[in-house]
Amino acid sequence: MRIVHAADYEDMSRKAANLIAAQVVMDPCCVLGLATGSTPIGTYQNLIKAYEAGDLDFSQVSTYNLDEYCGLSHDDPQSYHYFMKENLFDHINIDQANTHVPDGSNPDAEATCAEYDRIVEEAGYPDLQLLGIGNNGHIGFNEPDTCFSKGTHCVDLTESTIEANSRLFDNIEDVPRQAYTMGIHTIMNAYMVLVIANGEKKAQAVHDMCFGPIQPSCPASILQLHPNCVVIADDAALSLCK
Ligand code: F6R
Repeated sequence: MRIVHAADYEDMSRKAANLIAAQVVMDPCCVLGLATGSTPIGTYQNLIKAYEAGDLDFSQVSTYNLDEYCGLSHDDPQSYHYFMKENLFDHINIDQANTHVPDGSNPDAEATCAEYDRIVEEAGYPDLQLLGIGNNGHIGFNEPDTCFSKGTHCVDLTESTIEANSRLFDNIEDVPRQAYTMGIHTIMNAYMVLVIANGEKKAQAVHDMCFGPIQPSCPASILQLHPNCVVIADDAALSLCK
C-alpha cells in the first residue's frame, strides 16, 4: 500500500484526479471503477476541468460504479446513477451507454447482482478502481462482517452507514435500508485501487485499513493484500497514522 499525504480536500482531489487522468491518457479505452459520496466530488470536478481544457478524452472509457441503493430507479435524484450523471457523466464526453451502475430498481437481487458480475467480468475488471471509505471501514457497501464478501450482492446497511448517509436525504427514514454492492473479490480484481479519504471522521477507518489486522470487521483492511493500492488522504484522515 502506498500512502500519499495530501494537505487538504482540494489537494487530495487534485492528486486523485491526476492519477485517474494519467490512466485515461495512457489507455483511452480503459475501464474505470467509480464511487459516489462526498469524497470523490472534488476529484470529479478536477476531471471535468481537465476535460474542458482539452486534456482528457472519455469517448472510449467505460465505467462501473460500486453500488446503488435498492428501490431507487436510475432517475431518482437520490440514486447513485443520478449522482454520477450530475457530478461527472453529464459534463464529459463519455458515451453514457458505456457507464454502468447496478440496477437498484430491480427487486430481483440475485438476477441483478449476477448480471452486474457478468458485465464487470466481461469488461475485464477495472484498470483503476476509485474508492471512498466509510467511517466504519466499509468499501463499496461491504459493511463490517464476519467474512469478506465475494461478488456483487445485496446488503443490509448498518445503522452507522444509514446515519452517515442521512445528511443527503430530507430525513433519516428516507434512507434506503439495503443496497446492491460490488463485492471484495471484484474490487480486489482491479489492476489498481485508489482510495481517497479526508476529514477526522475517517481517521480510525484509515488507520485500521492501513495498519490494522486484516479482518472482515474492517472490510478495507483487505486492501493491504492488493498489489497496487494507493491511498491519498489528508492530514485529518491520516491523524492516527503517525
Ligand atoms: C459510495 C461508496 C461508499 C462511500 C463511503 C464514503 O459509492 O461506495 O463506500 O465511498 O460511504 O462516503 P463519503 O465519501 O460520502 O464519506
